[in-house]
Amino acid sequence: MSKFIIKGGNRLEGEVCISGAKNAILPIFVASLMSESDCIIHNIAMLRDVEVMEQLLTSLGAKIKSEGNGTYTINSNNISHTSISEQLMRKMRASNLIIGPMLGRFGEVKIAYPGGCNIGDRPMDIHLKSFEKMGAEIYEEHGFITARAKELRGADIHFDFPSVGATENVMMAAALAEGKTIIRNAAREPEVVDLQSFLNGMGAKVQGAGTDTIRIEGQKKLGGIEHTVIPDRIETGTYMIGAAITRGDIVLDNVIVEHVEPLTAKLREAGVKIETESGKIHVKTKEQLKPIDIKTLPYPGFPTDMQPQLMALLSTIQGTSIIIETIFENRFKHVDELRRMGAKIKIDGRVAIIKGVENLSGTNTQATDLRAGAALVLAGLVASGDTVVENINYIQRGYENLPEKLRGLGAQIKTI
Ligand code: EPZ
Repeated sequence: MSKFIIKGGNRLEGEVCISGAKNAILPIFVASLMSESDCIIHNIAMLRDVEVMEQLLTSLGAKIKSEGNGTYTINSNNISHTSISEQLMRKMRASNLIIGPMLGRFGEVKIAYPGGCNIGDRPMDIHLKSFEKMGAEIYEEHGFITARAKELRGADIHFDFPSVGATENVMMAAALAEGKTIIRNAAREPEVVDLQSFLNGMGAKVQGAGTDTIRIEGQKKLGGIEHTVIPDRIETGTYMIGAAITRGDIVLDNVIVEHVEPLTAKLREAGVKIETESGKIHVKTKEQLKPIDIKTLPYPGFPTDMQPQLMALLSTIQGTSIIIETIFENRFKHVDELRRMGAKIKIDGRVAIIKGVENLSGTNTQATDLRAGAALVLAGLVASGDTVVENINYIQRGYENLPEKLRGLGAQIKTI
């Protein structure tokens, strides 16, 4: 398994360009299953998860062509299957997003239960209850889920929790259902808004994404579209923290400033200097930083996907910081690895108490999931000596050209 070796001590300086958002690309790729015409999608990042989604759509019969420079054409005119192999399903939880489009277009789909992953159990009850409300029959047996609907009907659905995936899944199913659907207590993430504009470009009638109530008027069929995916707000936040943890000075290009507002507000509270103009963010850190407290919440609260990266930063800030993780029940797997680097962190259930240390020291570490891996890379940038991060396949799921981009900012990192 390949790994990163990082020599700590260099401040990050210079400019970095942010890639397309993984968590927008995945639902948008799946939504293209609902059209019989070409969907041309720009700003696609080269990520492991995108490769897996490509394999998954191809296994259903979709034709996918990479035009190079981040543009893909997807044609789902000849979908010949309605089930996904277990081996493919287990590679990525977001594969569960195919249920909505396949139910909407074909009235049936069979998938293996997507494996939970290291950050939590990740049930699908909200997804499945919603589809049943829309008239689907759901059978769960031997680790497989089969969903069938002779006719999918719109429904008034109230989510127990603003689940991102369930919001996207139901939006897609409702786009081809009979009649009107309302999703109440919907997720408000920017990736949900990007999916809405993709669906509406295909001829769907969706409104309200970005608020907690989304209304969809089902259509008979959907057409082709050309769409550019939004930039990745979590990649953006990861580099912003890279500048803060190395006390550096960087400019991030191709960003949507308001999508990272929750992080910007907290970094400013810690004393990080952040200037923004449209499409750009300038992060510079000279002064001593202050400890802060954060609580992860659904958007526009502080994103859980930035929690491990922020913990790495807080480990280097004198004083005591508190992190409360409210979204996933097991998203502190990076703590043991940060402790191995000298971080002083106490865990009490969903609460992490971080006492900042003078400096972290490089050692052998292991990525346990995507964002935990990113946190270890950030800690390695500032730790004394060499830090090895193993299992970097997790990191390559969600960060395009991470070592190259970091080297472009002056970091000493190589892949072996
Ligand atoms: C999306 O996952 C993201 N993935 C995750 O990013 C992100 O952490 C998460 O949203 C929360 O923001 C993609 O968009 C591909 P949820 P998703 O459904 O949709 C519970 C990354 O690092 N829940 O909003 O799976 C669930 O257990 C990844 O890029 C139910 O109880 O997240 C969790 O505790 C990691 N029942 C909470 O809701 C359900 O039916 C949030 O899950 C569905 C979810």
